[in-house]
Amino acid sequence: MADAFSNPVVIASNRGPVSFSKVDGSLVGRRGSGGLVSGLAPLVEAGRATWIAAAMSDADREASAAGNGVVEVDGLRVHLLDIDREVQRRHYDEVSNSTLWFVHHGLYDLVRSPVYDVDWWTSWEAYREANAAFAAAIVAEAPTGATVLVQDYHLCLVARIARLERDDLRFIHFHHTPFAGPEELRVLPPSVREELLDGLASHDACGFHTSRWETNYLACQEQVLTGAGRTFTATLNSDLDDMRSVAASEACREAGASIDAVVDGRQVVARVDRMELSKNIARGFAAFDRLLEMRKDLHGNVVFLACCYPSRLGVDEYRRYRDEVVQAAELVNERWGTDDWTPVELMTDDDFPRSVAVLQRYDVLLVNPIRDGLNLVAKEGPAVNERDGALLLSTEAGAYSELSDEVLPLFPFDIEGTARSIGAALDMDADDRMHRAKALTAAVQRRTPEAWLEDQLRAV
Ligand code: G6P
Repeated sequence: MADAFSNPVVIASNRGPVSFSKVDGSLVGRRGSGGLVSGLAPLVEAGRATWIAAAMSDADREASAAGNGVVEVDGLRVHLLDIDREVQRRHYDEVSNSTLWFVHHGLYDLVRSPVYDVDWWTSWEAYREANAAFAAAIVAEAPTGATVLVQDYHLCLVARIARLERDDLRFIHFHHTPFAGPEELRVLPPSVREELLDGLASHDACGFHTSRWETNYLACQEQVLTGAGRTFTATLNSDLDDMRSVAASEACREAGASIDAVVDGRQVVARVDRMELSKNIARGFAAFDRLLEMRKDLHGNVVFLACCYPSRLGVDEYRRYRDEVVQAAELVNERWGTDDWTPVELMTDDDFPRSVAVLQRYDVLLVNPIRDGLNLVAKEGPAVNERDGALLLSTEAGAYSELSDEVLPLFPFDIEGTARSIGAALDMDADDRMHRAKALTAAVQRRTPEAWLEDQLRAV
């Protein structure tokens, strides 16, 4: 293996791979799931990497204080930074989630937002401060010559600051969301835009899930002429072995039995998402409503299993969106439901084994984001599905470029088109379904989370 693979590694991410909650007065640690944790945790467990993350809740802060800044869950050690609560709130809710995430997903309604008032500028200072706290931890903790893997838009300035004191370190940034094009990035104040792009260009290389986001990034850099540095693309996959072991678990079997009782032999349309503004959940329900309007033959014969989990409830827009999603599902049920058929089964409590049980059972998986860096569900679904289900995938998801040959494409704003595509997918004959499903399963198995890690290290 090349040198980059034997160098020590430091991982910096805002959300860490472990989190804590208080149960009956005691701290309980939980390990996160998903591709990022699967890809990076083995390196930490092998003693080759240090993971630095922010404490995100009071329980995280308490656990961090109890361990002098270091916590350990199931053998995974993490440095949890106790950044001042208000600084972290402004850094995470106001700048990362309500500004940068909006810009990169193209979600602003420019008539009303963004607004850069005095409060926002205070938040921008907090963003800098939180980035400086990460940089200080890296400066203090990183072994000589380490490679630092900085994850995502929360930490764009870290490398720039840390380099001032540690010129022995290499920095790689990986951007998990889409990257805005130059025109969209112009929504940020010019000084902020330049500082962020300069921060990103301070890395030895910047990585993206697909070339579409990489191209946007390079075009943005070209406009400010700081010089972009090296870039690369490396798509992430979930740990499919892990998904399959959850699929074989007792919890998943039990959840599956209750789902079977609800489904009762009907066809299944499904989705599994965090209730994020980019996921386009309400338009998905509107399309299902339109389908039921067009196709009376489906009444009583299809059910939409929607696992939609609350996310970022510290942000007003997200709380409103959660209410909109619930209302949109209720509308469909009020309009078409009968005593023995509820068209949309909306499940909002986050239950991973149950999500996997739903993914095993879909005939049609709806993944229709407005824009998404990747969308791992588009890969996780086909990996565990047992019914030769079809995948309806938004052309605006990063995963689309990888899977375009095996999916039914969706233009996420087109409700009529989405309705018709769901109908066509439900009608697909068994042979066609089987062929597509086989090809799709093969496509999602092409990569492991470890391959994604290796691509980052290779970029040094
Ligand atoms: C979305 C984005 C990721 C980002 C994540 C952060 O899923 O696609 O790029 O890392 O949000 O989530 P969090 O819950 O930490 O805000």
